[in-house]
Amino acid sequence: MKVLVATEKPFAKAAVDGIRNIVEGAGHTLALLEKYTAVDDLYAAVADADALIVRSDKVTKEVIARAKNLKIVVRAGAGFDNLDLAACSEKEIVAMNTPGQNSNAVAELAIGMMIYMSRNNFTPGTGSELKGKTLGIQAYGNVGRLVAKIAKGFGMHIMAFDPFVSAEVISKDGVTVAASLDELYTKSNFVSLHIPATEQTKKSIGYNLISKMPKGGCLVNTARKEVINEEELVKVLTEREDLKYVSDIAPDCIAELNEKFGKRVFATAKKMGAETAEANINAGLAAANQICKFFATGDRTFQLNK
Ligand code: 3PG
Repeated sequence: MKVLVATEKPFAKAAVDGIRNIVEGAGHTLALLEKYTAVDDLYAAVADADALIVRSDKVTKEVIARAKNLKIVVRAGAGFDNLDLAACSEKEIVAMNTPGQNSNAVAELAIGMMIYMSRNNFTPGTGSELKGKTLGIQAYGNVGRLVAKIAKGFGMHIMAFDPFVSAEVISKDGVTVAASLDELYTKSNFVSLHIPATEQTKKSIGYNLISKMPKGGCLVNTARKEVINEEELVKVLTEREDLKYVSDIAPDCIAELNEKFGKRVFATAKKMGAETAEANINAGLAAANQICKFFATGDRTFQLNK
């Protein structure tokens, strides 16, 4: 079988070497398409691939239509909003992600961003500490849990809101359960977003929630830019000169935010939450192993389009 790794943002070399060992060790061949700039290159590369490993690369119905031999696509990472699951299902292609494999990298970045904003973007001036502050975690999944665990070490009070996780699971970690999103935003000096981008969550974080944050509040987004209502973000940052926004990947309106709010806003140019050697290796190798296991035994653990 031919396994294609198609990554506009490539894996670290150690991850690619590991993927190659697994794929070739199982008797398959590996093809690489890295740092491609034109979607036509992806179209050409998938034409004879039996399996596909991607990161945030968009696997659209146009890609699927050209991938005549494709049997499985694995998103090496957590969020799968880049996969057209319906198109995969239509062609009986199994789609998977690798949940949990890059969570620690994202969680560490969320904490790092909180420190960066608390310390005035590492420029002179008196900042503040995380200790004693309340951190609200919106969605208590793999990343949210790790952020809670690390933040505890800083002496923060942790609250979480997640309608899909039971109160018992949250409170056994010593985390206070917020009864509503309103409560989470009202009581948290920092809110850290860990929700996926879905039809329900897109543009769901806007004026009503952010304006509830206490004085000096900071919204931390290492999830997806799409979950923010950007117009309302501009409005609330204009009205509330004390609030801050930090995001892993620039919002569409970043130029306006930079111009209007200066150091109160910071965004990475390219999504870098999972950009560590460890996360690349964990997610990349997991993807390769999942593909080889699927071909060897039909294993469908982590299938998304059931
Ligand atoms: C994820 O959903 O796993 C993260 O956002 C990482 O995405 P990336 O592989 O594009 O860095």
